[in-house]
Amino acid sequence: MNVHDRMRRELQKEYIFQKALTHALEYLGDLPDREVFPSPDRLALLNEFDEELPEDGRSGEVILEKLHEYGSPNTVAQGGGRYYGFVNGGIVPAALAARILTDSWDQNAGLYLTSPIASKLEEVTERWMVKLLGLPKGSVMGLVTGTTTATMLGIASARYEILRRQGWDVNSKGLFGAPAIRVVMSEEAHSSVRRALVFLGLGSEIVESVPADSQGRLDPTKLPPLDSNTLLILQAGNVNTGAFDDFQNLCDTANKAGAWVHIDGAFGLWAAASSRKHLTAGIEKADSWSVDGHKTLNTPYDLGIVFCRNQGSLVSALETSGAYLHLGEKRDGMRLVAEMSRRARSIDLWSTLRFLGRRGVAELVDELCNLAEYMASLLTENGFEVLNEVVFNQVLFSSDTEESTRQLLERVQQSGKLWFGSTVWKAKFAIRVSVCSWYTDREDIERSVEVISNLR
Ligand SMILES: Cc1ncc(COP(=O)(O)O)c(C=O)c1O
Repeated sequence: MNVHDRMRRELQKEYIFQKALTHALEYLGDLPDREVFPSPDRLALLNEFDEELPEDGRSGEVILEKLHEYGSPNTVAQGGGRYYGFVNGGIVPAALAARILTDSWDQNAGLYLTSPIASKLEEVTERWMVKLLGLPKGSVMGLVTGTTTATMLGIASARYEILRRQGWDVNSKGLFGAPAIRVVMSEEAHSSVRRALVFLGLGSEIVESVPADSQGRLDPTKLPPLDSNTLLILQAGNVNTGAFDDFQNLCDTANKAGAWVHIDGAFGLWAAASSRKHLTAGIEKADSWSVDGHKTLNTPYDLGIVFCRNQGSLVSALETSGAYLHLGEKRDGMRLVAEMSRRARSIDLWSTLRFLGRRGVAELVDELCNLAEYMASLLTENGFEVLNEVVFNQVLFSSDTEESTRQLLERVQQSGKLWFGSTVWKAKFAIRVSVCSWYTDREDIERSVEVISNLR
């Protein structure tokens, strides 16, 4: 049978699709009790994938069974209640269900002509998001893979605009011989920002690094004088401490100087939609913003979002052309991102937001933060040192010595009962907790602290 006949036959095997759903539901049902990180014997099962590409393909059943038997046990249970690694969000069930349906649509969200539904939902969610986060009316949104890319697009807009104001069209002339751009940011800016500067040909040495305070907030007293050739990059949510820069004052200073402000709010920008919105006061004075859906909002992976106050800056920076493209009056999402073909992330965003509603978003964010505070208080009660002021969903703690902290971390990671990562904060080795899954509740926090205390 040739491959096309095989595929036609496969499409008619309804039971394969039902089987996929059965396995998915079994996985989700086991999630709360699943090892949070696979044990060595499970990891050994990954060897099953070390095979040569078969000459003749396998059936859908065989593929599914292999994935379920050897793949499911080798996942990280980040959607459960006791995964606190990196800043990895869980998944809102309604959005997952919507994803299962809409993956079968296999849409290309590049143009209105390639997916009217993706285009419509991008329009709708742009409106919702701008309002939810309190961004300036008329700000535009691009949907990408994550904050790293979103930040890159924000900086690309700044680069385009700062040079345009100096009479230099970077799209046609490039960067060789261009007027100087200044980039000012905190020493505590996330590493992805430097990466974005590298990708954009600005280089990391361009950065005028500003010292940060004890919590990782840019110290406004150390800010160099800004001018209209400056890009100032601020942060809503330090990846270690969760701290927020002082947007009111810093944006006022930047606006007076005519500088461009970009805010990296990968997980913290969501404070604007919660009862902690004092943390993001002043963000509306910036020019561009980046945030993730897959962190605090718990959308399915992967979903990063860039916003730009001025549509023209973003669209021009991403200059799009090609006679065959049929760019029209309707929303062509590719004009606001770097890709042409891409998945329809607007559907994930729409289903998550529509399920939660404005109030649900606030409750979700508030609860993650409250649980982080609860975790910090239990850790303190149990004799651990909490190293940061817990203002959002991040907690840093250590045991008595660096050696005992390292040992504790190793035991915790091997336990399979919960998972933390580590960091170095102000020259001190620390365990890093991010409460980022909607599934986590007070019982998970209590169980986690009990496990940590017992493993000490
Ligand atoms: C502050 C900050 N910026 C950027 C990023 C990168 O985000 P992404 O992994 O979605 O590219 C992170 C990731 O944790 C972050 O915390």
